[in-house]
Amino acid sequence: MLTRLRWFLCAAGLLAGLLLLRPTAKSALAADKKDPLKIAEGTASSDHEWQVPRERWQLPFKDDQPIYFVNRSQAAAEWDKLPHFWNETTENAVDPKTGEKVMRKAVKIKVPLGLTVNPPVPVENPMTVAKWKLGKQLYFSPSLSSDATVSCATCHDPKLGFTDRAPVSTGIRGNKGGMSAPTVYNSAYNALQFWDGRAASLEDQAQGPVMNPLEMFDGDGHAWNHAVSRIRRNEKIVQQFREVFGTDPTRDGIAKAIAAYERTVLSGNAIHDRADVAMRARVEDEGSGKYDFKAKDYETVLLAAFDAKDKTALDALGLDVDKDRAKAAATAKSIHNGRALFFGKARCNGCHIGDNFTDNQFHNLGVGVKDGQLPPNAWGRFASLPTGHKNAESIGAFKTPTLRHLTGTAPYMHDGNEKTLEEVVDFYDRGGNANEFLDTKMRDTDAERAYLLSQRNHTPYKGAEVKGFGKDEKPIAPLKLNLTPQEKHDLTLFLRALQGDPADPVVMRKE
Ligand code: HEC
Ligand code: HEC
Repeated sequence: MLTRLRWFLCAAGLLAGLLLLRPTAKSALAADKKDPLKIAEGTASSDHEWQVPRERWQLPFKDDQPIYFVNRSQAAAEWDKLPHFWNETTENAVDPKTGEKVMRKAVKIKVPLGLTVNPPVPVENPMTVAKWKLGKQLYFSPSLSSDATVSCATCHDPKLGFTDRAPVSTGIRGNKGGMSAPTVYNSAYNALQFWDGRAASLEDQAQGPVMNPLEMFDGDGHAWNHAVSRIRRNEKIVQQFREVFGTDPTRDGIAKAIAAYERTVLSGNAIHDRADVAMRARVEDEGSGKYDFKAKDYETVLLAAFDAKDKTALDALGLDVDKDRAKAAATAKSIHNGRALFFGKARCNGCHIGDNFTDNQFHNLGVGVKDGQLPPNAWGRFASLPTGHKNAESIGAFKTPTLRHLTGTAPYMHDGNEKTLEEVVDFYDRGGNANEFLDTKMRDTDAERAYLLSQRNHTPYKGAEVKGFGKDEKPIAPLKLNLTPQEKHDLTLFLRALQGDPADPVVMRKE
């Protein structure tokens, strides 16, 4: 009796072990077919969240094609030689497991001009061609949404500058969200994701929409269990997951693959980036050692753009590629002046700095403020800071967005309230929208101090207008820029000169 029981337990254990450790594509799919959504109720199923990788399923080292980024600042000679964005090549490598020398395929990505570092890649999610392809498929796949109607590309459409060009996005069943979809372009460089920075990485971010009732989730059961089950129904994708991750489709793998794809959605080679190269070449020619922009640096690259019939870059500046060559000099002068304003009188570089024109910080500009009041629940960064780390300075503060690729991503700001770049510039010209928590950089703090002092000393105050906001009547003086109409025009033109090339077809194409 005892031996029989022992035998039975042993066999059952073995069977369970086999099922657990060696699930085949068939068994995973069969389990789904029985009752595909049943396991999805309640809390997360760890099998759907992540699995321990099985090396045997993964592509062998010699067939796994790594993707390398190459940028001009760090590897100029190699970068110059790369003819395309996506360059297929081969490499000699040593299989770390067997020590065998192999020749294998690889891809080198020519990072667009102006981006002086490579997109950061987490160690646990190295870039490979198979993973990138899988991520691209998932990015365009409506299967991630409950009713198979919405994909990431619905709201971040490659043809619309990886946004939806709407003030707020539309998710499943026509549900409207509360914010404007930011572009995916260069999101690889963001320190934090979302307008309030609540996601720490692209991998983190990609898990949000699938659970969001306003975006991809119908609210029934556990969003990710359902989504993973839906993806597991496709045998081809199951196979791809096994080759890439050594697991069945999981939430972990889906997030990683999508992030790998997003890291190749890059915008650069704007007129401004080209002018930077022209400027450096000129200064080296002259031997003056004085690296500063001149209008003629912009003119040089505008003329080159006319010669190359670069419609995209010229369209962004409102220039007709066939007719407007004579306007190159005047346009160059305007952009050059716009640049000086951006880094000078208009103080845009106080927040929009670096290759991607963002400080990766959060600021309250008063976007959406009416009569000095923040809209209800518009806490911004403040709400997403963990309890114990709340910082009043981040009340109503939103992330500084990139300024690359703006002409294709209107309307602007987190609420899509500003319809044109001209409106954005007017917004800054009046000092944003005054409110109790307006960012220091948007304020005339000298005027505020003078005002407080005069109040304390009961002396008359003369200076920029100061008004009291909030329960404490906190004195706030929005810093007006006093830009002339010509200056506004030039500043806007500089923003247009930051328009990059569209992503390479290899990234844009759905297939
Ligand atoms: C229904 C429309 C919608 C769908 C579907 C959607 N997004 Fe978004 N996405 C948004 C909106 C709106 C935001 C900004 C929300 C916020 O900040 O709170 C956003 C933010 C982002 C960001 C952050 C960018 C930044 O600069 O902070 C990335 C990256 C992104 N989405 C990628 C994706 C991916 C990948 C998917 C698919 C898994 C996806 N989105 C699905 C609308 C959508
Ligand atoms: C105090 C920091 C700060 C300064 C100074 C600043 N910006 Fe911004 N900018 C931001 C933040 C933060 C946002 C997003 C605000 C929001 O949506 O609530 C933004 C948004 C924008 C947008 C909209 C981008 C989009 O995709 O929606 C543009 C365009 C822009 N800024 C241009 C400028 C220009 C031009 C200047 C100089 C006149 C400037 N900024 C000065 C922080 C700043």
